[in-house]
Amino acid sequence: MDRSKTDEKGSGLLDKGSLLDIVANWNGAFMPLLEVKVSVLDRAFLFGDSVYEVIRVYRGKLFRLHDHLDRLKNSMASLDIRFVDLDTIDQRLHETVERSGLSEALLYLQITRGEAARTHHYPESYSPNVLIYAQPFDDPYASVRAAGASAVTHRDIRWARNDIKATSLAANCMAAQFARQQGAMEVIFIDADGYMTEGSHTSMFGIRNGKLLVAPSSSKVLPGITKRQVLELAKAISIPLEETKITEGEIYELNELFLAGTPEELISIVRVNDKRIGEGRPGPLVTKLHEAFRSSLST
Ligand SMILES: Cc1ncc(COP(=O)(O)O)c(C=O)c1O
Repeated sequence: MDRSKTDEKGSGLLDKGSLLDIVANWNGAFMPLLEVKVSVLDRAFLFGDSVYEVIRVYRGKLFRLHDHLDRLKNSMASLDIRFVDLDTIDQRLHETVERSGLSEALLYLQITRGEAARTHHYPESYSPNVLIYAQPFDDPYASVRAAGASAVTHRDIRWARNDIKATSLAANCMAAQFARQQGAMEVIFIDADGYMTEGSHTSMFGIRNGKLLVAPSSSKVLPGITKRQVLELAKAISIPLEETKITEGEIYELNELFLAGTPEELISIVRVNDKRIGEGRPGPLVTKLHEAFRSSLST
């Protein structure tokens, strides 16, 4: 193989996001992100046996860090990934942000089970690998938020433990790519019983008759950190909440529909499968909730 060509092509792809400038924390040591090397025997590579978090940094502060660490702890407990000290992770996350010099950023954290001979079961003892890096990020979604986004429905083809934030995301990637090909921003997963679960990388909320509708917590959906913030804000600004499942047919009858996620914050969905939702533009309650979200960042 002509390695120079492969390298050229590889870095060409990677250059796009200015990844060259990013410094990673790899198992506690700082190095350029593009120089981090991981073994092909790492179980994240072989099996997707790893967990992750994406944390927003606003004005140098890690948004709802303790909720992220709690979710991480639950994800690791579910996959039985041990030998990781969360205080050390907490410290490294802060050091990585500090080292990046960024005040508006997305912080990525991945913990793999580490290397082992390839068998589905894993050894009693192993050394997890921990990757952390911060990339510049300052709300690239302002214009789509103002106009509203479109989404397409997709059968929920994922596994039965979507409450675990694991990196085995092939089904999410397939669905996200489907949305992209349809010119939509996101998919809305519909489970085998015909109910909306969530997006490929976002939580979904509906609004009907002045009430905020949210799918009950279950192993079918990720306990989103942005979702948690939205629920608290709705309470604070007196928007009534109804925990309920929404059928695919009911989606089209909603007054408003929106997605919520760490990079996206809240974005109104104004078309689903080319059908208009509500007035076909961001509605009053999504707008009010997003304003409340933004103001909550400065308190
Ligand atoms: C499937 C799925 N649902 C919801 C979310 C939103 O979670 P959060 O608000 O913590 O970013 C994500 C985030 O990646 C996700 O992958």
